[in-house]
Amino acid sequence: MTRAIVIDTDPGQDDALAILLALAAPEALDVRGIVAVAGNVPLPLTQKNACRLVDLSGRDDVPVYAGCARPMVRDLITAENVHGNSGVDGYDWPQTKTPLQDQHGVDFIIETLMHAGVGEITLCTLGPLTNIAMALVKEPRCVRGIREIVMMGGGFFEGGNTTPAAEFNILVDPHAAHVVFTSGATLTLIPLDVTHKALVTADRLAAMAALGNETGKACAGMLSYFNRHDVEKYGSQGAPLHDPCVIAYLLKPELFSGKKIPVQIEISDGLTLGMTVMDWWGTTTEAPNCTVMRHIDADGYFDLLTTHLARLP
Ligand code: RIB
Ligand code: CA
Repeated sequence: MTRAIVIDTDPGQDDALAILLALAAPEALDVRGIVAVAGNVPLPLTQKNACRLVDLSGRDDVPVYAGCARPMVRDLITAENVHGNSGVDGYDWPQTKTPLQDQHGVDFIIETLMHAGVGEITLCTLGPLTNIAMALVKEPRCVRGIREIVMMGGGFFEGGNTTPAAEFNILVDPHAAHVVFTSGATLTLIPLDVTHKALVTADRLAAMAALGNETGKACAGMLSYFNRHDVEKYGSQGAPLHDPCVIAYLLKPELFSGKKIPVQIEISDGLTLGMTVMDWWGTTTEAPNCTVMRHIDADGYFDLLTTHLARLP
C-alpha cells in the first residue's frame, strides 16, 4: 500500500536529495505533486530547481507547482550564502524539461486535500511553511484530508542555525508556522536536534560519488558544495543533511525516536522570533501537539538514502 504525499520544498541541495529519495521509492510513496516555496532562494529559482530534480529522476509523471513567493507577514530572507545563487550549486544542470503546472501550488494543495479521503494525504515540508499555512487559511476544511504533516524545521537542544534561537525554515515565516502548529493536524517535526547528528562525512559523500549514475554524480557535486559552509561554520566532519530525514522517516520510521510534546512558535519580534518553544520536560499545562524527533540512526539513514539513489538514472 503506497502512502500518498505532497512535497513542499525550497530546493536547496538538501531538499534535492529529499525529493530524489522520494521519487526513488514509488513502491512506498505516491508523490501526488511537488510544490515550490520561496526560501533558500527566491521562488523563480526554487520552482525551476524542483523541475530540474524531476528531470534528473526520470519521474516525468510527477507534477511541479509554484507556490508562494514570500512569507505571510515578514519580508523574504534567503540563504544563497549556504546554497549558492542557483540554490543547487555544485552540479552542471542541463536545460530544464519538466514544465511548471499552471495551477497555483496553494490551490493544488487545497484541491488535493479536499478531494482526498479523511486523513489520506501526508504533507512533507522541507522549507518555510507559507504554502501549507495559506492553504489552511484559504480553506480551513482541507485539514480533514491531512494524515500527517512531517516537517523539517526548528530546534531546541541545538538552538537555532540562523539566529541563536531560530532555525531557517521557521524563521523565514514564523506566522505560517504558528498557523500550522495551531491547526490541529497531526504533526511530526524533525528539528536540528536530529539533523545535526546526520553529517555528510567524506565516506558518505564518496559512497554517493561511487554510485556510477548521473544521480550520484549530481548528489556528490551538490553535497560537496553544500558541505563547505557548515564545515567552516561548525568545524564539523560534514554538513547536516536536513531535508531527506523527512522522507526517510516515512520510509523507515524506526531510524528515528522522539516524543509528543507541546510546541509553540514565537511570533513576537525580538531575539527569539521564530523559536520553536518545546516543552520537552512538561513544565506547562499546554496540550501536546507535535511528535518531535530527537535521535536518528545516522548510518541507517545514509544507507537508506544511498541505496535508493542507486535506483535512479
Ligand atoms: O535549516 C535547514 C533548513 O533550511 C533546510 O530545509 C534547508 O534546505 C533550508 O531550507
Ligand atoms: Ca529546505
